[in-house]
Amino acid sequence: MPRFLSGIQPSGRLHLGNYYGAIREHVRLQDQGEAYYFIADYHALTSLRDAKALRANVFDTAVTYLACGLDPDRCVLFRQSDVPEVTELTWLLLTVAPMAMLENAVSYKDKVARGIPADAGLFTYPVLMAADILSQDGDVVPVGRDQVQHVEMTRDVAAKFNREFGADVFKVPEYRLGEAPYVPGTDGAKMSKSYGNVVEIFAEGRELEKAVMGIKTDSSPPAAPKNPDDSTIYKLFSLVAPDEREALAARFRAGGLGYGDAKKLLLARVDAAFAPIRERGKALRADPARVEAVLAKGAVTARENARRVLARARKACGLS
Ligand code: AMP
Ligand code: TRP
Repeated sequence: MPRFLSGIQPSGRLHLGNYYGAIREHVRLQDQGEAYYFIADYHALTSLRDAKALRANVFDTAVTYLACGLDPDRCVLFRQSDVPEVTELTWLLLTVAPMAMLENAVSYKDKVARGIPADAGLFTYPVLMAADILSQDGDVVPVGRDQVQHVEMTRDVAAKFNREFGADVFKVPEYRLGEAPYVPGTDGAKMSKSYGNVVEIFAEGRELEKAVMGIKTDSSPPAAPKNPDDSTIYKLFSLVAPDEREALAARFRAGGLGYGDAKKLLLARVDAAFAPIRERGKALRADPARVEAVLAKGAVTARENARRVLARARKACGLS
């Protein structure tokens, strides 16, 4: 059975891009192997320096994942900082991580190109990520396209460490892309919190209506035939209500369906699809002790794994 492992940045209120691009995939994989997921709060420190906000975001992220269907009896959900062994492992990996490899990391290069001063934490971010993956002996890392380079770096560093210390310390993992690696936002660009074009998983009522009815469209009149593949409304609808997708495509092509009405159809489907998730979210939010207990239980298992891997690594390099 493969072991899946993936990390989630605690970035607060998650959206349909996160859901269809990552969360739904993670939920499905629970039945296809051993599933490990963690909330990457050490990583979050490279962009968030506000203790209260970080704590709230970690809680929100855990609530979202549980509400969306992660089942603590079928997966291990934990908080990265509950496994401090990963930071020691990061140091061991840093000693074999080539500078040129890190200088080539897109996440780092992007920030520098935008004139944002980078600190060493951001620079070495991929090595902390490698330690996350290797410390759990992960086989497969389900991620979005933006994380592929980081998994490649993990493979390089793991293989190099094994080679240089002449021991089979680390498993060399693979990445796996999900079914919906690109979910468009309400303006047609990639749905992303930083673009302000999201439909949040927990949005309801007026807020949800505002987001969906605000989807940008061209100015074709209702009577005009429309190409569904050019429409953000249709793309989102296909994800939310795949069974009705062909029928909607036919109505787009036939003409007579205005964008306003198409949005109303989409709104109704999003509202219905996420209602059970919203309800579970409310129950979890009202019971923080339950959420904390899940994370505490996950931490025990994840720490056991990390201790075992770290012991192998220390032995291979000659540390006591
Ligand atoms: P982020 O919060 O951007 O780190 O994203 C968390 C996870 O959601 C990552 O696996 C991303 O690849 C995925 N994700 C975020 N936005 C989208 C999107 N618009 N389409 C598909 N996947 C996404
Ligand atoms: N960097 C990932 C992101 O931004 C989160 C992450 C941290 C991760 N450690 C990981 C993902 C280990 C997979 C495996 O989405």
